[in-house]
Amino acid sequence: MISSNLDLIKMEVMSMAQLWGGRFTKETDQLVYNFNASVSFDQKFFRQDIEGSIVHTIMLAKQGILTKEEKDEILKGLTGIRQDVEDGKLTITEEYEDIHSFVEANLIGRIGDVGKKLHTGRSRNDQVALDMRLYTRLEVLNTDTLLKELLQTLLGIMEEHTQTYMPGFTHLQKAQPVTLAHHVGAYFEMFKRDRSRLKDIFYRMNYCPLGAGALAGTTYPLDRAYTASLLGFEGPTLNSMDSVSDRDYLIEFLSALSTIMMHLSRFCEEIIIWNSNEYRFVEIDDAYSTGSSIMPQKKNPDIAELVRGKTGRVYGALISILTTMKGIPLAYNKDMQEDKELTFDAIDTVKGCLALFEGMIRTMKFNKDVMEKSAAMGFTNATDAADYLVGKGVPFRDAHGIIGRLVLFCIEKNSSIDELSIEELKDISPVFEEDVYQAISLKTCVEKRLTIGAPGPEAMREVIRMHREYLTKDWQDEDDMFGGMLGETMDKER
Ligand code: ARG
Repeated sequence: MISSNLDLIKMEVMSMAQLWGGRFTKETDQLVYNFNASVSFDQKFFRQDIEGSIVHTIMLAKQGILTKEEKDEILKGLTGIRQDVEDGKLTITEEYEDIHSFVEANLIGRIGDVGKKLHTGRSRNDQVALDMRLYTRLEVLNTDTLLKELLQTLLGIMEEHTQTYMPGFTHLQKAQPVTLAHHVGAYFEMFKRDRSRLKDIFYRMNYCPLGAGALAGTTYPLDRAYTASLLGFEGPTLNSMDSVSDRDYLIEFLSALSTIMMHLSRFCEEIIIWNSNEYRFVEIDDAYSTGSSIMPQKKNPDIAELVRGKTGRVYGALISILTTMKGIPLAYNKDMQEDKELTFDAIDTVKGCLALFEGMIRTMKFNKDVMEKSAAMGFTNATDAADYLVGKGVPFRDAHGIIGRLVLFCIEKNSSIDELSIEELKDISPVFEEDVYQAISLKTCVEKRLTIGAPGPEAMREVIRMHREYLTKDWQDEDDMFGGMLGETMDKER
């Protein structure tokens, strides 16, 4: 019964799939139609489009532009369309130019002429500006949530490894010993800053463009502040031309996403190196590795490589929209339709990468012994050995020279500094005494680094405590963040 009614409605609707036929005497060329159409991708914000229409309708009725009966009918129609699409009874197809046409045509098909009043005081220009903003705003939050989950995992690793020694590198050459907690802690800082960038973007973008009309507002007495508050915005945007042609917030978001990918990619690069046969610092779990079709021994870090690789397409989205926007005169121009596909792709890519990366690092095994052995080799204590001599009164520049000669000697002997006998040490400088061994042990080298931000376990524990506290508070829970936002867009589906 329902489905045959629906079929009838669908037939009527198809004749209204285009919203602007009146002025034209010819059919649109099919290739032009296809080139122009956006429904294949803007259906991504179908829910936001319906939500915006619901709020617009409620506001029109409050202002006396629609009667209560008209409002009730339109709302019933809109929620019915949403339900049918969600239940799979109604499909969004390519016959419609865009998602706005799909909703409006189906509304009219369902409730008749009163549906034609929905678009009063509105243009697709402010409508699409709203839809994209609602969609993006939600994805800013979803991305932030994934980052927070990653931070939880990183902090867990840090807590476990405040005394797991490893070499710290510069130029990918062993430099000074650090701990795994300290190394991972560097990424904690990066992803924490990424979250704060998202927070800034959220608050800056959280203004409602609906009511800007095509570009110059409308002659209807719309209550834009009311619409804005129902949708959980801070308020309405203040210039209607800017409202329909601002895409800065997408540029900012894509820039933040690019930075997240850059951070993920650096970390992936390190994991690929650490997982190599030569390093063996870590072993990626079987569930996050892949094999070779020809070489039976292979276990490849494909996930890390793919995250590193996908960074390029997210940067691409940023460069693309920057370039699209740079020559557009005010106000709306169709170029701006190009803001969607690559942005959607970038958002999905980053969310996928964050989730997979988190799983990979959570299940990864850290070979503590191998890391520690590596830190003990390669003269990571050379600076501390020089500092030891400074402590005995040798000027630093001289100490640097003495330890340099010592290192040369060690390379010839294939030994580390602390493997030399006290006689051998004294041959190079009589200043050395028995206490040198204690002074340049791996443990001492790390533990002596006690200023805040350094790898010494005391300092590290204090930083970890601060991070723990940071993770108990969440900017997303702050009071009134969404004002009166309607339920559905807040279902944070991933
Ligand atoms: N699909 C269009 C876009 O994404 C919607 C706005 C259409 N407005 C117009 N004046 N043709 O930008």
